[in-house]
Amino acid sequence: MTDINFTVNPGGHLSGELRVPGDKSISHRSIMLGSLAEGVTRVSGFLEGEDSLATLAAFRAMGVQIEGPDQGNVTVHGVGLHGLQAPRKELYLGNSGTSMRLMAGLLAGQAFTATLTGDPSLSGRPMKRVVDPLTAMGARIATADKGTAPLVINGGSALTGIDYAMPVASAQVKSSLLLAGLYANGATCVTEPAPTRDHTERMLSGMGYPLQREGNRVCLQGGQGLQAIDIDIPADISSAAFFLVGASIAEHSDLILEHVGMNPTRTGVIDILKLMGASITVTNEREVGGEPVADLRVRSAPLRGIDIPPGLVPLAIDEFPVLFVAAACAEGRTVLTGAEELRVKESDRIQVMADGLVALGVQAQATPDGMIIDGGPITAGSVDSHGDHRIAMAFAMAALRAQGAIEIHDCANVNTSFPGFVALAANAGLAIEGNA
Ligand code: S3P
Repeated sequence: MTDINFTVNPGGHLSGELRVPGDKSISHRSIMLGSLAEGVTRVSGFLEGEDSLATLAAFRAMGVQIEGPDQGNVTVHGVGLHGLQAPRKELYLGNSGTSMRLMAGLLAGQAFTATLTGDPSLSGRPMKRVVDPLTAMGARIATADKGTAPLVINGGSALTGIDYAMPVASAQVKSSLLLAGLYANGATCVTEPAPTRDHTERMLSGMGYPLQREGNRVCLQGGQGLQAIDIDIPADISSAAFFLVGASIAEHSDLILEHVGMNPTRTGVIDILKLMGASITVTNEREVGGEPVADLRVRSAPLRGIDIPPGLVPLAIDEFPVLFVAAACAEGRTVLTGAEELRVKESDRIQVMADGLVALGVQAQATPDGMIIDGGPITAGSVDSHGDHRIAMAFAMAALRAQGAIEIHDCANVNTSFPGFVALAANAGLAIEGNA
């Protein structure tokens, strides 16, 4: 892979109106559920990033006819719950944890065997969290020694429903089990320790699949069918988050982010920033295809350090890299606890962010389950994103408040979730250059 680095000159402000690319979580699910549905699913706003394209390629490799993507439009010719075909070779899922964990569940119920592989980051991430409960349902899945990819998912296993209380608050685990549950005898129920994103449940319901939700528990019965629908995917709040923070920390900023997905299981970043004193107004609230959507206006505001409420952690789980940058620009101390999951994301986001912040002169101390950050000046410097898209984009925003240029290394994976980031950010006012 070409080494891509960003150089971001200090200062500037963010302004204008922009729409960030489509939601990654919903994009994955549109391909998966569209493939399993009866009929033609028309998707708009699809994220043309490497992660969701990996899912798209995998379903094509299993015989699903998929047209596009063409400017976010994708047409999926559903094959029904039992219409997938054995792939001719292993399915390579790149950097994408969502693809691997959700597909592990979905493939557990197929008549054929499939092998899932990924890049070095994905190959180091924990898969036992899905493999163990899937095995309890009757799946036969082989992993590498440490319970990691490659996963060989043996076909032809009869699955039985499970009543599973998840030890970690994970939408990927929940979704994986629900997808296996489509193929299981009896009911599959998942209880979550804290609310996690519910896009799978919303899309299943939208496609007519009966689902029972009560509090933190969701159940479905195997053996029903899915009906194709049109899916209009909103802009990804996790991508909007970089701009919410950037415009908050850079003086004289005034930015509108259009058509942002506002699913309440995803809006923790707004709640946290508002607790820190951010000026974010939500306008034009509407519902699009079963998902709430709004335009967000963000203006610069002095931020203050806070103790991040633990209940908001799963609702902002992907936004902590950039929230740490907000904390570095805030007055006083910010403390995050209860976020040990950050250590097993695309990188160890606690350590990698702490190292980068310290390299930029910020007082940041990693803890086992979070970070303590004292706001203060950000110096010029050089940081390593460790191939983690969200770390690269978070440090790019830090330059808005830095005393000199920030160089960010290993940024190619920004394309997994945010193709066009450099151009869009530059257009909004960030002094960023990429060597791509
Ligand atoms: C995702 C769930 C989250 C999130 C990931 C996408 C999903 O992971 O971090 O980026 O689409 O279901 P966990 O469920 O492991 O927390």
